[in-house]
Amino acid sequence: MTRTLFLAAALLALAPQAADAADPKALYNATCIACHGPKAEGAIPGVPNLAKSGRLSRPDAELVTNIMNGYQSKGSPLAMPAKGGNPNLTPADAKALVEYMRSLTGAKAGGK
Ligand code: HEC
Repeated sequence: MTRTLFLAAALLALAPQAADAADPKALYNATCIACHGPKAEGAIPGVPNLAKSGRLSRPDAELVTNIMNGYQSKGSPLAMPAKGGNPNLTPADAKALVEYMRSLTGAKAGGK
């Protein structure tokens, strides 16, 4: 019984960590950098320069949705793949990645 309680307490203590996003830098380098480049400037033709476009100043919820579901704006030659093609990506990861990309580009969260 005591042992069971101890295990339950240990699991509870671990739970918040499990809900946290993975290290956004490592995720970005593994999943996003091939298309978006080291400074989110765009590494291949068809990927917009997110450092300049102002897109990273849009609301978190909108950017997270577009990362999770994939996204293609009108007239764009290339789509953003859902979850950047990484099936393990969570919404918390996507939010952390938006913040990380802002830190790469100097963009501010403006909700514009
Ligand atoms: C296969 C290439 C590719 C990969 C991999 C990729 N992206 Fe994208 N991403 C794009 C393209 C292309 C667009 C622009 C789509 C458009 O506007 O039609 C885009 C757009 C975006 C945008 C702007 C969305 C908006 O609402 O304007 C964000 C933020 C973004 N990507 C984040 C990420 C993150 C984070 C990852 C890694 C988890 C990632 N991307 C992986 C190609 C990629």
